[in-house]
Amino acid sequence: MRLKNLVSQFESLETPFYHYDLDLLKQTVSEVKELAEKYDFDIHYAVKANSNERILSELNDAGFGADCVSGNEVKLASKVGFSSESILFAGVGKTDKEINIALDLNIKAFNCESTQEIEVLNDLAGKQNKVAEISLRINPNVDAKTHKYITTGLDENKFGINQVDLEVLVSKLPEWKNINLTGLHFHIGSQITDMNVFKGLCLRVNELQNWFEDNAIKIEHLNLGGGLGINYLSPDEESIPEFKTYFGIFNEFLERKPGQKVHFELGRSIVGQCGSLITRVVFIKNGINTDFAIVDAGMTELMRPALYQSYHQIENLSSEGEVKNYDVVGPICESTDCFGKSVKLPETRRGDFIALRSAGAYGEVMTSRYNLRDQNAPLYTE
Ligand code: LLP
Repeated sequence: MRLKNLVSQFESLETPFYHYDLDLLKQTVSEVKELAEKYDFDIHYAVKANSNERILSELNDAGFGADCVSGNEVKLASKVGFSSESILFAGVGKTDKEINIALDLNIKAFNCESTQEIEVLNDLAGKQNKVAEISLRINPNVDAKTHKYITTGLDENKFGINQVDLEVLVSKLPEWKNINLTGLHFHIGSQITDMNVFKGLCLRVNELQNWFEDNAIKIEHLNLGGGLGINYLSPDEESIPEFKTYFGIFNEFLERKPGQKVHFELGRSIVGQCGSLITRVVFIKNGINTDFAIVDAGMTELMRPALYQSYHQIENLSSEGEVKNYDVVGPICESTDCFGKSVKLPETRRGDFIALRSAGAYGEVMTSRYNLRDQNAPLYTE
């Protein structure tokens, strides 16, 4: 459904708000499901990308599991209906309170990122007379070639256990009676568009799992994380990401041991393109170089441009006028509160609806109440 056709529905709503195209979400999900079934891959949706309950329910109905990074995400996934068997808990700094929430709910497994964390988990599981299943998140030192703020798999990053520490960790395993190591976990970054990067990851994973096998540790699960990028430049031309190529690479290059399960934790690629932030133009203000289109959404509703200088396509849904240049900015008292400089838009007036596209992932979840902003409910269409 083209957003322009929805403008009459938008008229009565308070802006800014997120619009979700559930039809596109369903098409995306069905493509992921089909390929995952073909290759026998399991999908755990990365809840952090969008934890909107309506969206979570769709993904639960699709049969995906949930990849959570906080106690509250674990609780929400469970509340929305994800079975405890389908919930994973990752994160570099899980607190005791969060670990206990996950133990109480008997989730499937913890993705652990340090020896120190495993010691605490072993202790807390022991107090509940439980044995917690864990995967080790290993930092594979593979360059994801993405924005430096969302690269996670290099030696300089805080994530995962470094390979030099593995020997000592493995030697301690027999002491930890309340954990059971069954899997390996990798996630090297987000918004990855160079598919060769995933091939490099597969080759590193093959080496690493052989090392574990040589040390008599059976790896029942491999979790390759998320990271597949979306096309921010042309959301309409590529509304569903290249899942075929992505899964095909893992199918071709990952050496799978007999009976081994393979998991993915996709976030952005599933929900990114189905969401847009809809905003109204408050004023057109004269500028020295370029006029400003001041809209009623700001970095408080969509933080990505301010934080990562990221590009979101900007579309005027109300005008067909002559094309002009505008700096599209929000109302927040920060100079980084800018969605785009010298953006070509049809002549734009006060009251026009503007869509900031490809905002379904890391949009609504990263909103803040800075400046005591209102938060309006999303609109869903099918
Ligand atoms: N698994 C782990 C361990 C992760 O840390 C992440 C994302 C994912 C899976 C999902 O990755 P995805 O498929 O969505 O790329 N706020 C940033 C993105 C941060 C990503 C954090 N980790 C942004 O707006 O670009």
